[in-house]
Amino acid sequence: MSESGSIPRVYSRIAGTGSYLPAKVLTNDDLSKIVDTSDEWIAARTGIRQRHIAADGETTGDLAYHAAVRALQSAGVEPDELDLIVLGTTTPDLVFPSTACLLQHRLGANGCGAFDVNAACSGFLYAISVADKFIRTGDARTVLVVGSETLTRMVDWSERTTCVLFGDGAGAVVLKADAETGILSTHLHADGAKKELLWNPVGVSVGFKENEKNVGVRIQMAGSDVFKYAVKALDSVVEETLEANGLDRHDIDWLIPHQANLRIIEATAKRLDMPMERVIVTVDKHGNTSSGSVPLALDHAIRSGQVQRGQLLLLEAFGGGFTWGSALLRY
Ligand code: COA
Repeated sequence: MSESGSIPRVYSRIAGTGSYLPAKVLTNDDLSKIVDTSDEWIAARTGIRQRHIAADGETTGDLAYHAAVRALQSAGVEPDELDLIVLGTTTPDLVFPSTACLLQHRLGANGCGAFDVNAACSGFLYAISVADKFIRTGDARTVLVVGSETLTRMVDWSERTTCVLFGDGAGAVVLKADAETGILSTHLHADGAKKELLWNPVGVSVGFKENEKNVGVRIQMAGSDVFKYAVKALDSVVEETLEANGLDRHDIDWLIPHQANLRIIEATAKRLDMPMERVIVTVDKHGNTSSGSVPLALDHAIRSGQVQRGQLLLLEAFGGGFTWGSALLRY
């Protein structure tokens, strides 16, 4: 109890970050040799210049491991100090056990809770939101949160409208309980009615066989519908976040958005009246890495020295489901 008699709030503060991109790079020019596209078209419509592709046999769990080791090192935390691992992914290594369990064992963090969260491209926002609740309620003090994907494993390389967009990668953060500041609020949403606009309609229960229309095992997307819905949903969650915290849009120091499309990022920045100099953009280097994208951008922003301790960061993402969400935090 505090002197005033109220129970003091506990915050989840970022103690360290890490990220990992597979070695192989596929540029827009490389893609133009596979499908009828060009660097000019892809860059103008999406801002993407290249993406990384996991090597044969390199899995989501491998990417997660490298990102996690870097995050633990930067936080100065040993794996056996972890109380929980929450991993956002829509491309798990196996049907089960979860990729979080595989990661837990490989890190040597045996014994702590570990589970995956599937919210497609919003996976990291969903994962960090769950982790924050564990810390705020006192059930955990040190949590590893990861977003990791090998999305290119389910890309149709003959479909130019989708194959140019996606890449593989992972990012991770270590959250620690803090008495002063950290995550201020998180906001999650979903609209399952829109599932067919962005999905991969196969699975254990439905079956993995391609159906008579030859769809499945591959990402299907209605690009311009997704674009319009994403811009609206992100506008609304940004408003919701500011209102919940009694903040003005000019109070935000950095926007760290999901890296799917530069034009969607610019639309959100415009809504926040934010110059692009205060928006972290890495989509040009790795395309849409789904759950990996926000922690990849965050790690880049911190390691490059752009984001400084004490600054206010707004994280947001949108993805299949539809799902979308935000996290406001003081770094
Ligand atoms: N290279 C060259 N031309 C392409 C192309 C490519 N890779 N992909 C599509 N085209 C063509 C289309 O065939 C179409 O040609 P047509 O006019 O002769 O029919 C033309 O470009 C315009 O297609 P359209 O789909 O209307 O383009 P767009 O401006 O909507 O851009 C996306 C397409 C996919 C880049 C855009 O809709 C988008 O970014 N959507 C959101 C996707 C996303 O972020 N998804 C993940 C969310 S987590």
